[in-house]
Amino acid sequence: MALRNILTKEQPGLYKQCRPVTKFDERLHQLLDDMKETLLSANGVGLAAPQVGVLRRAVLVIETNVPEGEEEFIYELINPEILETEGEQDGPEGCLSVPGEYGLVKRPMRVKVRAQDRDGNWFEAEGEGLTARCFCHEIDHLNGIVFTSKVERMLTQEELENWAGEED
Ligand code: NI
Repeated sequence: MALRNILTKEQPGLYKQCRPVTKFDERLHQLLDDMKETLLSANGVGLAAPQVGVLRRAVLVIETNVPEGEEEFIYELINPEILETEGEQDGPEGCLSVPGEYGLVKRPMRVKVRAQDRDGNWFEAEGEGLTARCFCHEIDHLNGIVFTSKVERMLTQEELENWAGEED
């Protein structure tokens, strides 16, 4: 595994439409393994292939909503599609490609997705809260959309800390 460089918001690659993954081969597995290492090393909750310069439809999302005592795990979503959404949440959102900046973005509270795993098998997954937000955010990346284009407004550091306080 190897760390990959994360593109920042100035780089045009972040604003391009990504193509579907068609080969579920060793090269894809290498990409996913590298993305995992890069995501964990950057302390993020999600990462999309275009953020490491690969214009293919693959994302990682960490499921942080797990019962007490269970391990968090990482969804590998290849060619993901949103099947259903429910409810709404309004809260702070950030991105590894936009370091240190956070803004308020409205997202659904619950999201059901359909995607392929690294071997090409289709599966469905449901996320709530942060995971639902993350599914939407990462799939947006595959369509060249960065959250800064969806913010109601950006937050100051102090506002961000207040939001974090309210969630506790
Ligand atoms: Ni992002």
